[in-house]
Amino acid sequence: MHAPSAGPRAAATIDAILAAASDETRETLRVLGELLGNEPTTAISPTQFATRHLGVDSTQLAATKYVGPTTSLAVLGHLLRLELDRHAPQVVIGSPGDGQPPTWSQLDVGAGEPLPVPGRMIVFFPAGTLADAPLCILINDRHWEREFTILSAAAAKEAAERLLADFRGRMKSSLNPLRGRVLEARVDDGSLRIGVSPGLAAERAGLMLPGPLWAEVDVFLASATTRRDLLRSLGLGTNRGLLVAGPPGVGKTHLVRVIAAELAGSYTTILADANSMRHTIADLYAESDTFGPTLVVLDDIDLVLGHRDGSGHNSSLADFLSALDGVRQREDILTVATTNDPGSLDPAAQRSNRFDTVLTLPMPDAACRARILERHLGPLGLAINFTDVAEALEAASGADVKEVIRRTVLEHGESFTQDQLLDIADSGRWQAAVDRGRYLAPPPPRRRSRAKGVDA
Ligand SMILES: Nc1ncnc2c1ncn2[C@@H]1O[C@H](COP(=O)(O)OP(=O)(O)O)[C@@H](O)[C@H]1O
Ligand SMILES: [Mg+2]
Repeated sequence: MHAPSAGPRAAATIDAILAAASDETRETLRVLGELLGNEPTTAISPTQFATRHLGVDSTQLAATKYVGPTTSLAVLGHLLRLELDRHAPQVVIGSPGDGQPPTWSQLDVGAGEPLPVPGRMIVFFPAGTLADAPLCILINDRHWEREFTILSAAAAKEAAERLLADFRGRMKSSLNPLRGRVLEARVDDGSLRIGVSPGLAAERAGLMLPGPLWAEVDVFLASATTRRDLLRSLGLGTNRGLLVAGPPGVGKTHLVRVIAAELAGSYTTILADANSMRHTIADLYAESDTFGPTLVVLDDIDLVLGHRDGSGHNSSLADFLSALDGVRQREDILTVATTNDPGSLDPAAQRSNRFDTVLTLPMPDAACRARILERHLGPLGLAINFTDVAEALEAASGADVKEVIRRTVLEHGESFTQDQLLDIADSGRWQAAVDRGRYLAPPPPRRRSRAKGVDA
């Protein structure tokens, strides 16, 4: 005896039941199927959702579309969420199509939890909520079609356009939780991601530079602050590029962080890492449109740009230059780049109409080195003559001086003598790795006699 196989028999039975079933029974079975985890079969397309709620047929439907980079979309999602909350009892949320349910994404705002923001969904806003006319907003953050689209009756297209412009304006206002913050750009999965930078409180007081250099920095900052409106009203433009050059360890990164910290609040800073400079520079400048006045920091561009190769081709340089040229048309975008070796930069990147100001940070002189020593060791109240130690640390960069101090504190704790400090400087133990020929001056043949040491 062979029992008929279960599959075909069950199928035949369901077919038979369905054929004989009333509409009501079929509907009940469908709902049961959904409850048991089948894909919903009722999800309608955004167009169907919109025509249904707006009460127009599809030939009367108008789409007002914005296509933007990831972070822009997430910020728009946040703004959409504010409207969802505000009109909660009246709005209707629908599927983004393809049988998918509405989904939420996240917007990284630094401290605390990321904000949940609409990722993929369509929302119906009745007349009198977002505009006089009823509208639907479709948001879709899938990376191949990132869009924020307002669907309306053709007759309400103008209102939809006004609303879109309004949303884009709000992105540049304090409603954008990223506005005025210090952000970091990196590449993830081939696309640019922008997140909030974990605090980097860099202060002027921590960076010892010759006075005239600070004056130059102030002139640069004035184009973003005190002189901004005047420049603008005179049609002189506020868009400036600053190139900070100098050998490794002289405080270039520290300086751009000071600039970012001083502009925080009024300017959004985007710190670009090497990958984002190399692969997504155009996207990066496109994202900067999301934040109102923006400072783009390109640290160590020489690592990324360098010279054109033999064939005269350097795609990241080409992208970089065209991004920089493109952005010059825009108000309120500042670019600050740093390089260890301006000579290695292609001359095209240095041309003065790309960077209006080139600032070269020198190796610290003895007075600067003494001030660095004093800043870090002063609080310990040791019997150390900072001027003498600074003299001995000839040819040391600011970073070198800090490393010597760090190593000494690691070895000796909070109490040590001037000679112990100098021994560590001489020993080279403070160098984590031999670094492109940067050494302290060769140990002088005990030029500093112990007798002279204040600790003797
Ligand atoms: N002139 C200086 N005064 C105080 N600290 C300095 C100075 N130059 C460098 N440093 C310190 O050395 C470290 C490395 O500096 P960084 O800005 O990264 O150098 P760069 O980017 O030029 O290689 C930082 O901790 C910085 O604060
Ligand atoms: Mg640096």
